[in-house]
Amino acid sequence: MQFGIRVLGVHNGWNGLINSKVEPLTRYSISGILPRGGTILGTSRTNPLASDEQLQRIHENWRKYGLDALIVVGGEGTLSASLAMHRTQHLPIVGVPKTIDNDLNGTDVTFGFDTALSIATEAIDRLHSTAESHDRVMVVEVMGRHAGWIAAGAGIAGGADIILVPEHPFRISEICKILNHRKSLGRYFSIVVVAEDAHPHPDEPFLSDEESSSIYQHTRLGGIGHLLGKKIEQMTGIETRVTVLGYTQRGGAPTAYDRLLATRLGIKAVDMVRAGEFGRMASLRGTKMVSVPIEEAVESIKTLDDDLYEVAKVFFG
Ligand code: F6P
Repeated sequence: MQFGIRVLGVHNGWNGLINSKVEPLTRYSISGILPRGGTILGTSRTNPLASDEQLQRIHENWRKYGLDALIVVGGEGTLSASLAMHRTQHLPIVGVPKTIDNDLNGTDVTFGFDTALSIATEAIDRLHSTAESHDRVMVVEVMGRHAGWIAAGAGIAGGADIILVPEHPFRISEICKILNHRKSLGRYFSIVVVAEDAHPHPDEPFLSDEESSSIYQHTRLGGIGHLLGKKIEQMTGIETRVTVLGYTQRGGAPTAYDRLLATRLGIKAVDMVRAGEFGRMASLRGTKMVSVPIEEAVESIKTLDDDLYEVAKVFFG
């Protein structure tokens, strides 16, 4: 018991509450985790509402452990399920926004995003050296699900020559025009950053139906980088290489910004529990911690800010 609160850590999201996998957490048992990435509690994509049997077990365990509140940490999927649990099962829940995708409304930033951005930017910096030495086009595929925050942020920070995001379908002819133009000016290398859910414009489709369905499956995105790289090489004749950053973007030590943000969000979440602000999410607005309805966070995804994409476009070519 600390600060009048007994804290239990639930392993693997809702799965832990269904299968009684919890452990007491104290400030001493969690000491030293701040610089570590990932989660000491594990994670899963278990949907608590998948069956009546699961719901029954959650309620049984809730009583068994004498819970007064649950703090859930996650992105759109986790928070949507939590809102449904709050509404239909009347569980007192507080949300904390965590995803590298930064695609949650209701908060200026989610924690994890800044770390992913730094990793992607560093990778682009490194790819610049090799692209320049070999006179190649480097295509870099980044994560972000249906939002282009990582692509635009890392692309701008890393000085990419073209940035493709899900919010703005791209025309392959325009990309090749930019790359050829750069070459004609003596810029023999180029960096193209592509978000995993960036789509070709319907005016200029170049993917087969089979390719489209294999790379844009909702459950696991990824693959556009290789197909785009192949097409660029075919159309421009410039040697092209592809790097898919993948899960490296979700690993390693978090940035100072993310450590600070996560710490502040955690403390805000506890304050909200004490105040009985359930069905709500801790959130960053400007420089302040506030609480917003979880509904606001999940009713639609927070797509890339148009102004930021305009900034990115200034440097295309
Ligand atoms: O939502 C975070 C995220 O890393 C996305 O950027 C990515 O599309 C997805 O998760 C990958 O999911 P999984 O870990 O299930 O492969």
